[in-house]
Amino acid sequence: MKKYTGLDDITDLQELIAEARALKANPYAYEHLGKRKRLVMLFFNSSLRTRLSTEKAASNLGMDVTVMNFNSDAWKLEFEDGTVMNADTSEHVKEAAKVISQYGDVIAVRAFPTLTDKAKDESEYVISNFVKYATVPVVNMESATAHPLQALADAITITELSQKKRPKVVLSWAPHPKALPHAVANSFIGMMQKMDVELTVTHPKGYELSDATMKDTPVVYDQDEALKDADFVYVKNWSNYENYGKVLATVDSHSSWTITDEKLGNAKFMHCLPVRRNVIVADEVLDGKQSVVIEQANNRTFSAQVVLKKILENLN
Ligand code: CP
Repeated sequence: MKKYTGLDDITDLQELIAEARALKANPYAYEHLGKRKRLVMLFFNSSLRTRLSTEKAASNLGMDVTVMNFNSDAWKLEFEDGTVMNADTSEHVKEAAKVISQYGDVIAVRAFPTLTDKAKDESEYVISNFVKYATVPVVNMESATAHPLQALADAITITELSQKKRPKVVLSWAPHPKALPHAVANSFIGMMQKMDVELTVTHPKGYELSDATMKDTPVVYDQDEALKDADFVYVKNWSNYENYGKVLATVDSHSSWTITDEKLGNAKFMHCLPVRRNVIVADEVLDGKQSVVIEQANNRTFSAQVVLKKILENLN
């Protein structure tokens, strides 16, 4: 693997999942692979799981890790070509990415979308500039439109817990007071399209995701109908895509979309976290036995570890 910025960087998903599960069973089996190699993690946005799990994954492989919170610790970066840098940006990504490549053997980047400029977000201007100018491999720790490490952890979790050859997986929108990105939904759908599952998406009218994400995945606007006989219910909010980055109605007006025990039925409940209790999902679900959110969070380590292992093997 030369980089991991999107699901297209996966050549054999089943093999990758199997290898991640083998690493989970024996996390230190490759602890010499990353010796004297450094992962530099750049955060333009907050994180709990991604930061801690990716750092642990690198450490399991014997790597050293440097973490930089870009917005508070580094010079403000310029991404536009040809800009006269006489305003608030102090350093261009052209130099920054090349310089960071002198210190790190792998660069991991988290950079959320603006949710105000669709074209800019869809150009993935932060991570794509790091890919363009860095001289070492780049890993996506959630970009404007994708969260492929989360999606790989979700695929591992479903593979581990599924009791059927072809489980029914439902991605359900749920209410949230803030405008949230599409990245998790995009990557989860993309990942499920690669797996042998029956995938359905449900959301209120107006919250359609991009055609590029949906392909031929069915949308069922009636949430109760969509959830019928589900084996896994993955819940996530996203803001409007067409009316880009907008929240169309108040949380209260969409409260019937909050996931309860009754809606969940016998399915497993999935969410990438962090999650707002009693807005996205009722306490009874998160505190109940059908919630697998902690297993998902645990698998973040092994999704990152298998990706870093594949990249390190390509370096050596
Ligand atoms: N799921 C996830 O990416 O969590 P963090 O935002 O805490 O990293």
